[in-house]
Amino acid sequence: MITRNEGFANLTAGYLFPEVARRRREYAASHPEAKIISLGIGNTTEPLPKFIAKAMADYSIGLSTPEGYSGYGDEQGNTELRKKIAEVWYKGLADESEVFISDGAKCDIARIQTLFGRNVKIAVQDPAYPVYVDGSVIVGAAGKNNGTGYEGVTYMPCTPENDFFPDLSVVEPDSLIYFCSPNNPTGAVATKEQLKKLVDFANKNGCIIIFDGAYREFIRDPELPKTIFEIEGARTCAIEINSFSKPAGFTGVRLGWSIVPNDLKFADGTSVNRDWNRVMTTLFNGASNVVQAGGLACLEPEGLKAMKEVIDYYLENAALIKKTFEGENFKKAGAEVYFTGNSPYIWVKFPGKKSWGVFDTLLDKCNVVTTPGSGFGPAGESFIRISAFGHHADVQEACSRLSKLAL
Ligand code: MLT
Repeated sequence: MITRNEGFANLTAGYLFPEVARRRREYAASHPEAKIISLGIGNTTEPLPKFIAKAMADYSIGLSTPEGYSGYGDEQGNTELRKKIAEVWYKGLADESEVFISDGAKCDIARIQTLFGRNVKIAVQDPAYPVYVDGSVIVGAAGKNNGTGYEGVTYMPCTPENDFFPDLSVVEPDSLIYFCSPNNPTGAVATKEQLKKLVDFANKNGCIIIFDGAYREFIRDPELPKTIFEIEGARTCAIEINSFSKPAGFTGVRLGWSIVPNDLKFADGTSVNRDWNRVMTTLFNGASNVVQAGGLACLEPEGLKAMKEVIDYYLENAALIKKTFEGENFKKAGAEVYFTGNSPYIWVKFPGKKSWGVFDTLLDKCNVVTTPGSGFGPAGESFIRISAFGHHADVQEACSRLSKLAL
């Protein structure tokens, strides 16, 4: 018989968000009267901007006509959209030949691991979006969990003590470094100086950075870098992954992209961009043409304005959540609130408590779902993450319950 991919046996827990959903379902089943509000997974809630939805509807109707019909498109994506992303999103910091359109950032993170195979060393911020590590375990680049983390993975703690920027000296040469800014889950945004340190380290030590910029549209501080390609030297050491999910509400629609610079090379001098093109043309058949029409609309002035408005809406939620956790009741319980104003996530520490314990208390006492920080890595223990994605009314109701909680 065929043996099981041992990567699956090495995974120590189910994927974080289904586990959160399972506990919510279990609680709801035993408390049918509870009106549960989810501030857990970062799932968008607000309707698609009309301008963007209409572009997809029009394209879709066009497909029913002989002139408007098209079948397979280029696997790398619609040329016009690639060009527009290079021009509008990257303001010329990337060339259209470096843009690969996809069905979302998570899928790209998974596919990109095929570029590096199972022998690559992995370094992740700790805590981190779980796909980086779980995906590495599935492909065999990371091994068993020895109790403190997976073999083959270097954890770079990002804590209040180091201002959520890691000590890079722990990273081995020739590592693949996953780095997310604005960060999921801590909400921290790396400054230009910090990213310069990261880029210089990677170039000096033969590392490649997988830079996840999925939350960049939440950045409101103009001094903060919105892409790693603002940093000198990034083109020889970084790949950026991004998505329309959060800014345009495309979590269900699905559209993302990666930027693989033509200057990026493997140790033998061959082009990473060329191999990525091979991966995308072999393992992917192009993002939906209807959805790519939506992506083009996102990058029109009207689409950009609509995306900003929806993000402002979520940031208002975030400000209220922050204020709530800074309330007297949480203060008395020793809660420490971390929120930069440039992300949809509020990161709260409950010193001396376990993350899942706090999760259970908030679910049981307030019927509010959060995400336990320990699910993002060892350094996330004692924290919970609260997501600002939600209708205003739901977030207000959740905050009202939380502010009355006696801890
Ligand atoms: C999260 O809640 O961390 C993310 O939104 C989930 C995702 O994007 O896959």
